[in-house]
Amino acid sequence: MTPTSPINTDQAVESNAWIDPAPSPLLLLLGERTDTQSERGVDCPGALPAPSDPDLAARARAAKDTLGDRVFVLGHHYQRDEVVEFADVMGDSFKLAREAAARPDAEFIVFCGVHFMAESADILTSADQKVILPDLAAGCSMADMAAINQVEDAWRTLENAGIAASTLPVTYMNSSAAIKAFTGRHGGTVCTSSNAATSLDWAFESAEHVLFLPDQHLGRNTAIGDLGMKPEDCVAFDPRKPGGGLTPDELRAAKMILWRGHCSVHGRFTPECVDDMRARVPGVNVIVHPECKREVVEKADFVGSTEGIIKALAAAEPGSAWAIGTELNLVKRLAEQNPDQRVLFLDKTVCYCSTMNRIDLPHLTWALESLVAGNVVDQIEVDPDTAHWARVALDRMLALPGA
Ligand code: 13P
Ligand code: SF4
Repeated sequence: MTPTSPINTDQAVESNAWIDPAPSPLLLLLGERTDTQSERGVDCPGALPAPSDPDLAARARAAKDTLGDRVFVLGHHYQRDEVVEFADVMGDSFKLAREAAARPDAEFIVFCGVHFMAESADILTSADQKVILPDLAAGCSMADMAAINQVEDAWRTLENAGIAASTLPVTYMNSSAAIKAFTGRHGGTVCTSSNAATSLDWAFESAEHVLFLPDQHLGRNTAIGDLGMKPEDCVAFDPRKPGGGLTPDELRAAKMILWRGHCSVHGRFTPECVDDMRARVPGVNVIVHPECKREVVEKADFVGSTEGIIKALAAAEPGSAWAIGTELNLVKRLAEQNPDQRVLFLDKTVCYCSTMNRIDLPHLTWALESLVAGNVVDQIEVDPDTAHWARVALDRMLALPGA
């Protein structure tokens, strides 16, 4: 892990100050020999420049300048500062997919984010544009929790329970292209953390049940917090158990059938984190991402997507204190960008998204320099049939009110 930016310690509180961890051996693997069965890609074939090279930033800048308008670099809010510096635009996964689609003249879209985001960009861009993920091992552990064969098995379970015809799949953006395509084929839509309520309202206009993939917490928080459902309207479908671990009667009685997936980063926040923070910082505003568990969201003052959290901070009263429950790179940047507020990280320990962090300056430099040399590396290509049906689901989302 590279050093992080200096922190204004006035903005951090005792033990809740972020901590720079020692380099993790996992991160130092730099993407070699990854799981071919997962949502992520395979080997990172590159001869990466040394992270210690003092000229790395200058090399990346020179390569980007040489490529000029041929390249467009997208950066997710959870990316490291050393990468953000090279992003032409920053955003959440939804905004970045749209930004990619809005750049038909860019020959190369370099996506500094994770695999499912780059897939969505490939689906939404033209066939002659190339989307590059600088480290193919930058996957998403949540997206990996729903494999297409598991989802097809689950659908057969719903058919056997007699409810498939009255069920629509709704999949979070954080899912593989194959699952988005499954959703498109079965009449459903994609959602993001900022439009999950709109997507579910749309689905329940014509369906009695929703199969929500793959994040149980976003599904539960939206169903209960926004649609006013009761906890007992939701069941968790465990793909590792026969029948999802549910009886046909339990499936038939449920409105929301929640895939038992979660984000390991947001799963770190607990109700005790909120209690502890409130005890030490009276008057603090607690804002958390909807990927947090229900009991955390219930204790928070606000719940918001990454874009929602950024907007809340931008609109906040000067001098107010905010404890934020989301990925640490974003929280650190919010502290730097809002010096008139006291910005705190909700957990006591470090909470980076390790897969987002795989995109670092050596990988970005390598990808850009390879393009200058005429080698397209780490390209993300979704096969045409999958791309077609995934696009159907994405277009349904884009047609929803407010999109
Ligand atoms: P956004 O949809 O807000 O970009 O979030 C993506 C994500 O992975 C959150 O953990
Ligand atoms: Fe996936 Fe969680 Fe990382 Fe987001 S923060 S990319 S959901 S693992």
